[in-house]
Amino acid sequence: MSELLCFTEIAGLRAHINELKSQGKVIGLIPTMGNLHAGHLKLITAAKQKCDRVICSIFVNPMQFAANEDLDTYPRTLEQDKAGLLETGCDCLFYPEISEIYPLGLQTQTVVSVPELGTSHCGSSRPGHFDGVTTVVSKLFNICQPDVAFFGLKDYQQFLIIQKMVSDLLFPIELVGVETEREPDGLAISSRNNYLTQEQRQLAPALYRILQGIRAELTAGNREFRALEASGRASLSAAGLKPDYFAICNAGSLQAAQPDDLELVILAAAHLGKARLIDNVRLSLNRH
Ligand code: PAJ
Repeated sequence: MSELLCFTEIAGLRAHINELKSQGKVIGLIPTMGNLHAGHLKLITAAKQKCDRVICSIFVNPMQFAANEDLDTYPRTLEQDKAGLLETGCDCLFYPEISEIYPLGLQTQTVVSVPELGTSHCGSSRPGHFDGVTTVVSKLFNICQPDVAFFGLKDYQQFLIIQKMVSDLLFPIELVGVETEREPDGLAISSRNNYLTQEQRQLAPALYRILQGIRAELTAGNREFRALEASGRASLSAAGLKPDYFAICNAGSLQAAQPDDLELVILAAAHLGKARLIDNVRLSLNRH
């Protein structure tokens, strides 16, 4: 097993990256907030297949948490994370302190904001959240200068927003979206699943099951989008989850699906105890 190079300071990491660049190495970046699980490690594995050197960042980004959210209790498991990264063959870990990323605090921080895509769904449930994401991801891109960056499609809206940011701001970076890693019962793996009690954990797979059920209806030709959304929300409530949103959308714009749309995504978020679960399924319809 090779070693995991660890950096907490931007200057040291930059010197290392300059060295890699001078050797012509293709650099892959996987930004995370830590508490790494099989979903994160799948991104590392995907990066290893495509890149010469793989950098993972772990930073619980205060800018993307609202005051009432779980910034303080978000699980921090650095030693365990390092072991997982080493085992998966990650080359380099960047885990800065908050003061390294926001030396002047958040109040006067320049904000990178993607309009429209960033304001619906998770953006309206969590105002300011995606501005925090795009701002920190911009910083990580500028620090690490990756050739390729890997993101999970579990956070589909986040992926589209980062894609738009990369395109609008001309970051010379290829983005790769990686399919969602799931538990055997279908639940999308997430650090926040740790908040579930044993009983709630039994209920949680309903989210993916219901999404799949609605996708089957669409595939079978049902185009009553708004009625299907209402039925999805009702099924979530019946399964003991508290729906936040359940939306059938155009997969590119995230606008409410229209009868002509061929590429769709069904996005859903629901509260279960202390956890807020999100998931999505995508589908292509045939023109008829
Ligand atoms: P975090 O929730 O730690 O997720 C880091 C990356 O792992 C994201 O791209 C996310 O989509 C991906 N991921 C999470 N669970 C996954 C699963 N079950 N299968 C596949 N990929 C999965 O998302 C963030 O952190 C932050 O917003 C961040 C982008 C790091 C900015 O702070």
